[in-house]
Amino acid sequence: MNELDALVESARAGFVQAATPADLENAKAQYLGKSGRITELMKGLGALSVEEKKTRGAAINQAKQAIEGALTERRQALADAELQAQLKAEALDVTLPGRQRGQGGLHPVSLTLERIEAIFGSMGFEVADGPEIESDWFNFTALNTPEDHPARSMHDTFYVEGGSEKAPNLLRTHTSPMQIRHAVQHVKRHRADLDAGRPMPEIRVIAPGRTYRVDSDATHSPMFHQCEGLWVGENVSFKDLKYVFTDFCRTFFESDDLVLRFRPSFFPFTEPSAEIDIQFQHGPLAGRWLEVAGSGQVHPNVVRNMGLDPERYIGFAFGMGPDRLTMLRYGVNDLRLFFDGDVRFLAQFR
Ligand code: DAH
Repeated sequence: MNELDALVESARAGFVQAATPADLENAKAQYLGKSGRITELMKGLGALSVEEKKTRGAAINQAKQAIEGALTERRQALADAELQAQLKAEALDVTLPGRQRGQGGLHPVSLTLERIEAIFGSMGFEVADGPEIESDWFNFTALNTPEDHPARSMHDTFYVEGGSEKAPNLLRTHTSPMQIRHAVQHVKRHRADLDAGRPMPEIRVIAPGRTYRVDSDATHSPMFHQCEGLWVGENVSFKDLKYVFTDFCRTFFESDDLVLRFRPSFFPFTEPSAEIDIQFQHGPLAGRWLEVAGSGQVHPNVVRNMGLDPERYIGFAFGMGPDRLTMLRYGVNDLRLFFDGDVRFLAQFR
């Protein structure tokens, strides 16, 4: 192999060894650069005769072209490899399943509250909302609940900062304070009618929301829900309570032959008072009496605290447990499941 052929071979080998375009440019400079081997050889031509220059020049040129050819080939090969690597790195597997966004849904108790609001809404009841931190006045005193009533014990209630030392604020233990809050607003709105001796539009409201007690087991949670109902006018009787609540329960449970029982009871803010039990005629709970609400005719002292004359205004109230209604409707036996936040449980109600 002559010297020029050897040079071409070594250039080709050097180019093949270059793994990156930058390496290749360095290798190229060794042969074709300003002080590369080919350039050096060209410079050497000056010392030769005309005849020798011709043949030697032609031979060097041929070698140069061969090296350039090898360079182009290697450049192309590196560019191809780079493209392949990029294609591989950015490859899309169109057969992979798509990423799905989980579908949310309302909490089962929220579904119940929506149902309660819809049913009572259809019977002309407004929906009112009130504070969960409540004063002693609204939670107890205004509701005719005496100071020595056991519900006021520190052990039964969560007391919070605010209020007075004798009557601290607390997390409301029931939604009944909304009877007073709503009625007072209503009376204020219709003050002119009342002062003029004109009839005031009836108070017809439900007040659903969170309530709190120091209680925790399979059927009690420190936070739970209640929904208060209040209907006050000049001519509202226990008969209306029975009618309204029976209609509500039958619609809520989609069961026309559901039976209700009003069992005498005691609450400080109603007189007379009754516990309301329901009885399904079919299904797994058929035949059992299940307590769903407390109720009664609003006590005259409470009517007075609403700003109304108990000689003229009369009505009824009830308080029910939406959590319990949800358990009965869906056949859930542990209340705590509703508040554990386990999506596997909650997703069943979507
Ligand atoms: N507030 C009562 C409780 O939490 C429930 C209740 C009973 C509400 C009778 C009422 C009622 O409106 O009339 O146990």
